[in-house]
Parts: sequence; C-alpha cells; structure tokens
Amino acid sequence: MSMRITLGRPDDMHLHLRDGAMLEAVLPETARHFARAIVMPNLVPPVVTGRDAAAYRARILAALPAGMAFEPLMTLYLTEATEAEDVAAAHAAGLIRAVKLYPAGATTNSQSGVRDFDRVRGVLERMAEIGLTLCVHGEVTDPEIDIFDREAVFIDRVLEPIRRATPGLRVVMEHVTTSDAVDYVRAGDETLAATITTHHLILNRNHILAGGIRPHYYCLPVAKRERHRLALRAAATGGETRFFLGTDSAPHPDSLKESACGCAGCFTATNTLPILAHVFEEEGALDRLEGFTSRHGAAFYGLAPNPGTVTLIRGEPVAFPARIETGAGPVTVFDPGFAVCWRVAG
Ligand code: DOR
Ligand code: ZN
Repeated sequence: MSMRITLGRPDDMHLHLRDGAMLEAVLPETARHFARAIVMPNLVPPVVTGRDAAAYRARILAALPAGMAFEPLMTLYLTEATEAEDVAAAHAAGLIRAVKLYPAGATTNSQSGVRDFDRVRGVLERMAEIGLTLCVHGEVTDPEIDIFDREAVFIDRVLEPIRRATPGLRVVMEHVTTSDAVDYVRAGDETLAATITTHHLILNRNHILAGGIRPHYYCLPVAKRERHRLALRAAATGGETRFFLGTDSAPHPDSLKESACGCAGCFTATNTLPILAHVFEEEGALDRLEGFTSRHGAAFYGLAPNPGTVTLIRGEPVAFPARIETGAGPVTVFDPGFAVCWRVAG
C-alpha cells in the first residue's frame, strides 16, 4: 500500500559530525533531511571553549554543500578546567545551546571529561541560573560495574545527586538505553528530558553478539536486553514530550569498526527517518512521529519549530547505500536487519 506522511522539518538533538574529510562526507547525510542538530563536541582535541565552538561552527558551515540549509546547534565539552564565565559568555552570545558532560573514559574521546563531579559544580550552578542545558552521557566508568549496568548505576550515583544539588539545572539524559532511565525521566520534572537513538529502537544485545559479533551494532551505551528496547519504543512512540530524537549517528571508518578493538558508534544519518517511520508504523503511532522528530526536542531547547516539511513515502523496499565513501575511508550505514519500505520524498 502506498502511503505518505508529512512532518515538520526535523531536528537531530544528538549528532556527531567529526571534522575534516569525515565532516565533509557525513554533513550532507544529515542536512538533506534535518534542519538543525545538537552537535557533539568530542573532537580531538575537544571543543572546550566558546572560541573553539565558534571555530568548529565555521568549519561545519564551510563544509555544507551549496544549496543546503542547516543550522548546527553548538555544544561545549565540559572539563574540570571549564570556566563558568566562558560558558556564560558563549551562551549569552547565542553561540551554544548546551554543555556536554562525559564522565572521563566513558566513550569515544572522553578522556578529557569529568572525573570528580565536585569540580564542575560551579559551572553547573551557573548553567542552572542562565537556563543552559546539560547533555549527559549517562554511564559510570567504574570497572567494577558491569557494562550493561552502567547507565542504571549512573542515575543513582551521579545524575540524581547532581540534580538534587543543582535545582533548576536543565538536563538531557542522552541516548537512553534502559527502562531504568525511561522511568527516571518520566518521574522527573520539566527540567529533565531524554534523547533516544534510532538504533536503540531496533537493537537488543543479542543483535550484537548472537551468531557472530557485529561491530557495526556496537555503540555506547551498549544495547541492552529486549525488555529495555521495548521500554524505549514505548517512550519514543508514546507521544511523551520529554522524549525526543537524538540519533547519536557516530561515523567511524570501517577499518576502525571491523577491528580487534572496534570503536563504538552506529552511523544512522542516511536512513534514520525511513527507519523511524517503519518503527512508528509498527507501533501504530505514525501520528506521533512528528512530535518525536520535530517538536518535542525544539520545545525543550526553547527553539521555534522549523519552517518547512519533509515527506515520507511508503512503497517498495528501499535499497539504502551499504556504505558512504569519505576521505577518511568508507563508513558503513546502519542496517536495521529488515526491509524498510519508507523513503524521504524529493
Ligand atoms: O557509540 C557511541 N559513539 N557513543 C558515544 O557516546 C560516542 C560516539 C562517538 O563519538 O563515536
Ligand atoms: Zn554521542
């Protein structure tokens, strides 16, 4: 059956664009469909100061192909040396939309992140005062904690104490992967929200490990048990305004994924919207897709919805490219493992 649905032009509220040749190759994959994205600052070296963010923003805009419109929403990478004054000035200048907290060692390029959370208290207090959002990679790094438990433990050990100590701080718990996180966000007030990725709506841990190891399904936080995936699906498709799309599309060259020690990240920018349409259709929730992709995130960040629309058409199974070529080597496009019959018109 042919069908079409039209959405307000979407926002990706958590995206890795990288730099240089990789940036050039992956940026059009997002800008083709998305009007804006919250751009992660975990470059090497990271985007730490307002000056770094301005320079990175200029590089992104310079890499945008002629004729494409896209607004990068910049973030700063929180370190123990971050100065509250610099953060506040970048915010006042309209340069940044959020600050990203990586616990040191939690994920790709997080080694400059935070070890002692008391050391960033002053910055967090200032952010609460000025209404600037903290985006959180919510995993503890304690080697004693099983990797599948790291998100749930982070809520109790780190996130709840930070939120209690910093009333009013706006927090996005990024790429949630557990029912624990979904429940925590639901129980919170209007200062708390969560992003959900496309791939975590598809994958459970069996997909990564059963019948052979699938490096292109390895990301962080790692996909959990099936019951957690179902909780994420319910949160994403249920129309709740504090859950919205952040793809965490995270390109790595295939040589670094298909390796004895492979990098974490799924590259989903190319086919995210068709896969989401498939998921929302399966859940009988196509009427809620626009909220998830185009409304809830903007509202949380205090942004107007984008002008313009995208239309998705349902027809024959679509052959998405298996990989995109980049100057840094080929990057495999996320394969959901089932036929997708939706494509973006135009
Ligand atoms: O899978 C991931 N990849 N998770 C992250 O937190 C970082 C990201 C990356 O930068 O590659
Ligand atoms: Zn990320």
